[in-house]
Amino acid sequence: MVKDILVYPDPFLARKAAPVAKVDDRVRDLVRDMFETMYESDGIGLAATQVGVGKRVIVVDVSPVEEAAAPLALVNPEIVGREGGLVLGVEGCLSLPGVQGDVPRQETVVVRGLDRHGEPVQIRAGGILSRALQHEIDHLDGVLFIDRISSSVASAK
Ligand code: NI
Repeated sequence: MVKDILVYPDPFLARKAAPVAKVDDRVRDLVRDMFETMYESDGIGLAATQVGVGKRVIVVDVSPVEEAAAPLALVNPEIVGREGGLVLGVEGCLSLPGVQGDVPRQETVVVRGLDRHGEPVQIRAGGILSRALQHEIDHLDGVLFIDRISSSVASAK
């Protein structure tokens, strides 16, 4: 089911999401809804926070940018490794329609979490996947990409 995406300055977007205690069917339903919602809006990533659910769940599919990429759902994702320096790249957000900005992100990250079956996974990501994962994990901490750049740099499309 496609859900409504919260739009800035909805105060829920600034909330810190809670860890998922158990990956059950409710979490799997949430993941399915989040993928449907993301694809409906032509996004490449979505955090549960953006659909008004305060749980640490993200979905990412960067295949529109990197063809070989596969859809990825992560529960309780956590950045456990950072490699390379900071790189600037343009970002947008489904919760900030029409806004884009250059955001500094870690070049490569190692992210650990659970898949939708509750199995531990670890991903080493560079490029757009690294950027998308950092962006979505930020959402779970109530952080938007505009919080990571000076407001003068953000511009309407
Ligand atoms: Ni976003």
